[in-house]
Amino acid sequence: MTKPSKRSAIHDAKIEAVLERLHGAADRQFGALFFHYLPKLPGLFLGKGIQWDKTKTEFYRDKYIPIERDQGEFLYLLARSINAKTIVEFGTSFGISTIYLATAMRDNGGGVVIGTEIVPEKVTQARKNIADAGLETYVKIREGDALETLKHLKQPIDLVLMDGWVHMALDVLKLLDPYIRVGGIVVSDNVGTFKDDLKAYVEFLQNPANSYRSATLALKAGTEFSVKVK
Ligand SMILES: C[S@@+](CC[C@H](N)C(=O)[O-])C[C@H]1O[C@@H](n2cnc3c(N)ncnc32)[C@H](O)[C@@H]1O
Repeated sequence: MTKPSKRSAIHDAKIEAVLERLHGAADRQFGALFFHYLPKLPGLFLGKGIQWDKTKTEFYRDKYIPIERDQGEFLYLLARSINAKTIVEFGTSFGISTIYLATAMRDNGGGVVIGTEIVPEKVTQARKNIADAGLETYVKIREGDALETLKHLKQPIDLVLMDGWVHMALDVLKLLDPYIRVGGIVVSDNVGTFKDDLKAYVEFLQNPANSYRSATLALKAGTEFSVKVK
């Protein structure tokens, strides 16, 4: 949970109102998430991170679990700075991150955010939220398992937001890798929280033998920032 930002880079009252409504709804789920994670909190406070339980995904069917406001602002500015035209997002949920990224597409003068979401009710609601923000022209959500729906991409990718279930992150990255252009960026949420589950993923990105240079930023509990260099 984060406090509302007083200095949004977006400068669009309609979009900011939708984002505030959605962040507010997500913040109100804090109690349910706190009790869900309660047994795991000592590990988190000791800096060990927590373990992802891929058998418990049903709990998250109605949970937003979005990026934080600061991450959204960062992603908006990043997409503006590289003049991104194609963005792929693993894990759209109710569309909060998608709205930050789609705003950048609009302000860049065009482009598309390819969202992915496996829960059909979330896809329906995300599309509605994105339309409320007036950004539907800039978003195509692929419903279903991202490992299937992202198999056939047609254009080079400028920016990836990796924010789906952590046990799939490396497989999704390897699927997208051939399409990510040199100079393209991968931003990965949750690397400080799910340290063990994302260990191999982060090692892949930080190994200079692969095509990336990568560092963990102190955004949220840790956000991996990776640039494709070859
Ligand atoms: C952390 S949430 C994404 C939050 C979103 N990026 C935001 O900031 O609002 C992760 C989402 O990934 C979705 N997801 C999990 N496995 C998936 C898969 N195989 N394909 C597509 N989406 C998946 C989940 O249903 C969940 O909504």
